[in-house]
Amino acid sequence: MRAVDLIQKKRNGGVLTKDELTFLIEGYSKGEIPDYQLSAWAMAVYFQGMNAEETAHLTMAMAVSGDQVDLSPIHGIKVDKHSTGGVGDKTSLIIGPLVASCGVPVAKMSGRGLGHTGGTIDKMEAMEGFRTELTRDEFIAQVNDIGLAIIGQSGNMTPADKKLYALRDVTATVESIPLIASSVMSKKIAAGADAIVLDVKTGSGAFMKTLEDSEKLAQAMVEIGTEVGRKTAALISDMDQPLGYGIGNALEVQEAIDTLHGRGPEDLTALCIALSSHMVVLGGQANSLEEAETMLRVKLESGAALAKFKAFVEAQGGNPAVADDPSLLPQAPLVLEVKSTQDGYVQAIQAEELGLAAMLLGAGRATKESVIDFAVGVTMKRKVGDKVSEGDTLATLHVREENATTREVTERVRGAYSFSSEPVKPSPLLLSVVT
Ligand code: URA
Repeated sequence: MRAVDLIQKKRNGGVLTKDELTFLIEGYSKGEIPDYQLSAWAMAVYFQGMNAEETAHLTMAMAVSGDQVDLSPIHGIKVDKHSTGGVGDKTSLIIGPLVASCGVPVAKMSGRGLGHTGGTIDKMEAMEGFRTELTRDEFIAQVNDIGLAIIGQSGNMTPADKKLYALRDVTATVESIPLIASSVMSKKIAAGADAIVLDVKTGSGAFMKTLEDSEKLAQAMVEIGTEVGRKTAALISDMDQPLGYGIGNALEVQEAIDTLHGRGPEDLTALCIALSSHMVVLGGQANSLEEAETMLRVKLESGAALAKFKAFVEAQGGNPAVADDPSLLPQAPLVLEVKSTQDGYVQAIQAEELGLAAMLLGAGRATKESVIDFAVGVTMKRKVGDKVSEGDTLATLHVREENATTREVTERVRGAYSFSSEPVKPSPLLLSVVT
């Protein structure tokens, strides 16, 4: 087999076989096929697309390119959740304990963040003492014991995806639905879950800017799951403004805790319940989404989900008292207000701009080497649809000191808000479901 023939076949709209895709991915991983040939192939895929079967073969070739996690010693149906990435997304910290309290084991591996705020792992590390590295035996034992563990990705998982993603990033081939779908799903499959629930974000703050593209991506990922025997459901949710109010690691942990107390923001709570309902059904603990939702609301109201969060924090070395006393989380010494310079109704809030603002304050990484400040970030005080008068506080900045950066961030945050003189109805958070 020769790479050049496969590039030509794809360029001409042909369908590559499992053996051909395995040849390309294995060859690329081993360094036997050079970057320029994989780039040419990726560009051919960008223009010609791939069918469902081809996408599934590519996914599996990447999933088996490195370590694969064997979750079989964990009892029950393991359901994983993945979000395509959004600003202020702290859902994993809520969904993990919530779903586990319904009897669905959650054995989750999460990433660190680059850009914007930290990833789930960074957020958890905002709790002093919290260990995000467990041995495989500790990880399995903890899930069997309390139903939940979340750790950082370790070892050498999906190296082919890492290498190909880095190549796509510099060859204008990221925005291809089959390539994104196979990239996301290869990681989930290697992480060992039996079933997968995806939160596909759509809107200005998301990878996919239109509902149509988001639905195509969701469909492609659900088809991969079906092809490879992992039940998959995808929800499409709005990212035309950040989720909840807090952006920044400790601020997001605090909001997650508030939500587990049953006093979280409406949008965040609704999304967590929706995603969790699918997880509980796929995990075999409810027969319908309605039944799952009732069960989840009981777990929230009774404090069972919060109790699960405390057990989880304690098991991973943190202080469970943080769940009742948010002052135990890192606190920024100074809170600055960003005031509106106009009257009106909030029409939109550019999520990416607020993510960037939080990052500039130190809540996220500009480079892999950056050190995160857990305490800093942005709290929105106004969201889409809210009426605002000149001088009202739009958001607060949690900072160490007032300086040139905080002045720049103040302007950015103010600039992220746009206004209408007419009342604005926020778009619905949940836009569609693909199963
Ligand atoms: N996220 C991924 O993991 N892969 C992509 O290709 C795009 C977004």
